[in-house]
Amino acid sequence: MFDFSTTLGSSRFDNPILTASGCAGSGKELSQFFPLASLGGIVTKSIMLKPRSGRATPRMAETPSGMLNSIGLQGPGIDLFLENDIPWLQTQGVRIVISIAGETVEDYAVLARKVRGVSGVAALEVNISCPNVENRGQVFACHPETARAAIEAVRRNVGGDFPIIAKLSPDVTDIAGIATEVVSAGADGLALINTVLGMVIDTSTMRPKLAGKTGGLSGPAIRPVAVRAIYQVHQALPHVSILGMGGVSNGQDALQLILAGASAVSVGTATFGNPLAAVTIKSELEAILINKGFNSTAEAVGYAHRAD
Ligand code: SIN
Repeated sequence: MFDFSTTLGSSRFDNPILTASGCAGSGKELSQFFPLASLGGIVTKSIMLKPRSGRATPRMAETPSGMLNSIGLQGPGIDLFLENDIPWLQTQGVRIVISIAGETVEDYAVLARKVRGVSGVAALEVNISCPNVENRGQVFACHPETARAAIEAVRRNVGGDFPIIAKLSPDVTDIAGIATEVVSAGADGLALINTVLGMVIDTSTMRPKLAGKTGGLSGPAIRPVAVRAIYQVHQALPHVSILGMGGVSNGQDALQLILAGASAVSVGTATFGNPLAAVTIKSELEAILINKGFNSTAEAVGYAHRAD
């Protein structure tokens, strides 16, 4: 009997396919297409302390095999989110991963305290890598000291056994070094990778296409970057669970991330073109794993690291 379940830190998921933060809101829109509980879990859009309208428009641009976004963490703020979105999600029977983002270390501490008492949350994704902020100094994941400070603040305030997944940026020279830092600061798992900082210039206006000038590149164009980052981090920290993401569009793509070292895979940009992408990818991945002779998802995690 094939065991499709997986774990991220101490949290168990029935299958390894989740949504990616920011690509499915809090799941309401997707729920008209399929039962959310058929996925391993829903990762909600990163939420900040205060309501936030995000960056000026235009804030999306198509790119070859991908897209660029500069949403700027638009959202209702943690209080309204916990009042409206979470109670609804709790009725859906799906595993919930709440994603938080802060502008300061203290924001992360307050957010962690607010989430601490919420029941039925499988894990907390700590987004320390959003590229769409006014100040690159706020990309906590780009420096070991700031990455550590944010995760330590969350760990101190969320409590000892709440699973924390730190979301890292690929825009660093040594992602395994940052990963090591956040794990020693208290993260149980890692979300790899956030979008890659990019820019598009409109050749008719001869100005940047996005009002925020830069944006985060996602979609199949970044998949090799995700596979490389997951492979490097799994090699350095083989016992730390990884939630992999970056341009996964079909079961073979999901398999690549798992073979590199991811225990679960988030589907993001593919959902914009096909709201059923995550459920289709889940079925494809299960069939591929069985077909290749694996008895469980766990057996395939990091398989690409094996010597022949
Ligand atoms: C955004 O809202 O700007 C995207 C969030 C992220 O990439 O972390």
